[in-house]
Amino acid sequence: MSRKPIIAANWKMNIGPAEGTQFIESFKNLIKGKDVACDVVIIPPFTTIPSVQNALGGCSCIAAGAQNVSQYDNGAYTGEISTSMLNELNLKYVVLGHSERRQYFGETDAIINSKIKKAIAAGITPIFCIGETKDERLGGILEPVLEIQLKGGLKDLTPEEVSNLVIAYEPVWAIGTGLTATSKEAQEAHSFIRKVISDVFGADAAAKVRIQYGGSVKPENVEELMAQPDIDGALVGGASLKPESFAALVTSAK
Ligand code: G3H
Repeated sequence: MSRKPIIAANWKMNIGPAEGTQFIESFKNLIKGKDVACDVVIIPPFTTIPSVQNALGGCSCIAAGAQNVSQYDNGAYTGEISTSMLNELNLKYVVLGHSERRQYFGETDAIINSKIKKAIAAGITPIFCIGETKDERLGGILEPVLEIQLKGGLKDLTPEEVSNLVIAYEPVWAIGTGLTATSKEAQEAHSFIRKVISDVFGADAAAKVRIQYGGSVKPENVEELMAQPDIDGALVGGASLKPESFAALVTSAK
């Protein structure tokens, strides 16, 4: 089963509208005429999304996404953004379950599951993040942690829905630390994730679902990571904040 790789730039709480426009102009020039064999997604803060989309213009080969969405439809939820608001901007992807949302904003597997269902119902593809802390890995509970997050976040989804989403395996200890999982460690985790998907949703869903690796991905390590059979792309934080390094990442992904 060949899965098209997907590389996404998660800008987190960085890059405002003016800088976003400049980024996209530079990025488009840097990848012009180059062979880009993966889906490319830019995921800015909400207020930067329109300027990114304007700068992308007719460039249909780069999609935009959001970093979060509410599990509620509308109403008195100060500070929240709904799926219908994302749809008004024609956003194709939304990051859900990121460890920073779990750690700083109390998002549980049940909340993440509600958000995933809401996104799918609105036709927006979730990039569903899971990953273990250093203590969990050292404590020998990597696999149970991933399994609980997977089963909780994907509860009640159909095999077809699971086939079409993107999972991002992000070991928490590798995020923003400069520490990357070795390609062997990452492959083992991805293979385990695919096995859980196969056990719960069937072999076809497991063969189709794309699983990104995230955690200090940079131009120097992306090729080795993506050469692993179960790694289908990258969710990139720090190295996505400069057009030069993000362009190097997307052009080296095969
Ligand atoms: O969403 C992206 C990840 O949290 C990875 O961030 O590339 O800065 O380690 P990082």
